[in-house]
Amino acid sequence: MKAIMQDRYGSPDTLALGDVDRPVAADDEVLVRVHAAAVNALDWHFMRGDPYVARLGMGFGGPRQKVRGRDFAGTVAAVGKDVRDLRPGDEVFGDADGAFAEYVRVPADQVERKPANLTFEQAAAIPMAGRTALAGLRDAGRAGPGQRVLVNGASGGVGTFAVQIGKVLGAEVTAVCSTRNIDLVRSLGAAEVIDYTRADFTRGGQRYDVVFDLVGNHPLAALRRVLTATGTVVLSGGGVSRGGSLFGPMGLIIRAQVAAKFVRGQRIHVLQTPPAKGLLTALTELAEAGEVTPVLDRTYKLAEVPDAIRYVETEHARAKVVVTVP
Ligand SMILES: NC(=O)c1ccc[n+]([C@@H]2O[C@H](COP(=O)([O-])OP(=O)(O)OC[C@H]3O[C@@H](n4cnc5c(N)ncnc54)[C@H](OP(=O)(O)O)[C@@H]3O)[C@@H](O)[C@H]2O)c1
Repeated sequence: MKAIMQDRYGSPDTLALGDVDRPVAADDEVLVRVHAAAVNALDWHFMRGDPYVARLGMGFGGPRQKVRGRDFAGTVAAVGKDVRDLRPGDEVFGDADGAFAEYVRVPADQVERKPANLTFEQAAAIPMAGRTALAGLRDAGRAGPGQRVLVNGASGGVGTFAVQIGKVLGAEVTAVCSTRNIDLVRSLGAAEVIDYTRADFTRGGQRYDVVFDLVGNHPLAALRRVLTATGTVVLSGGGVSRGGSLFGPMGLIIRAQVAAKFVRGQRIHVLQTPPAKGLLTALTELAEAGEVTPVLDRTYKLAEVPDAIRYVETEHARAKVVVTVP
């Protein structure tokens, strides 16, 4: 099968479309024919082997897992002998290593049925970004009705889900984005918008119950300044690793955990990559109810994955970038 492969860490130039054996589903797995895959910040971190400490898991000399990509949507092509509730032809989505390929294998209990009202491209956009937004606001932030929630980085992959989810939770969402994205975040349900090219939200007088930071361009003290006395700041880890970093978000996690011990009233939460299944089920229900709709920016072909990652690496993509696999 065709796949985007990589032998050594580095820039998008180290990625190449090549031929590799089609994976075989284990007893508890399904083999999925990929129709669409989404690009996440995680993909360029894996591609670059960044931060270095992550290479302990990914492989020192080069990536052990040669095929890049994680988020996918597609059709079940084969099922392992222990799989009961899925069969060939079912339309599913989820995440697994090696999604920038014609086929990917994944544990059956990690995939979710594709919402019938979404395209494969829209469904592929959900797993990493949607889960992060839901875990960040609902679980870590405990955002609820009547609360004021600020999303910094509201026009990005995670942010466009977070604005919609904040509204679903009944919160009043303030979106921080640049001028060109104001209409987008308003259309997703933001009650207030702060244009970061004109104003610094950490200098304003408004206080928020939850600050969800997806950019990492403000120190923790500045984020806490705009929190209520009992508010929660949720840090995504974004912006702390810009290539060549040794520990990446781990430094932030340790600093935030130490700070959290001395803080009274307010909560500081560093989001770790959330587990798949329960959150995916909840996102499927929200999508089917029409309450959350993935927003797509550019679409690339499988052979163009290096360009797609180059674009996402600019950190100025608008919503989700998707790869189609015909
Ligand atoms: N902890 C976790 O489990 C987890 C999971 C997923 C993602 N993350 C992290 O969360 C972060 C966000 O992910 P993502 O997928 O949403 O990234 P993304 O799609 O690359 O975000 C790009 C967006 O950020 C906006 N932006 C750039 N600079 C900004 C600024 N100074 N103020 C406000 N907005 C700004 C851009 O808008 P403009 O073009 O208008 O500037 C663009 O729309 C990433 O750093 C990622 O590593 C963490």
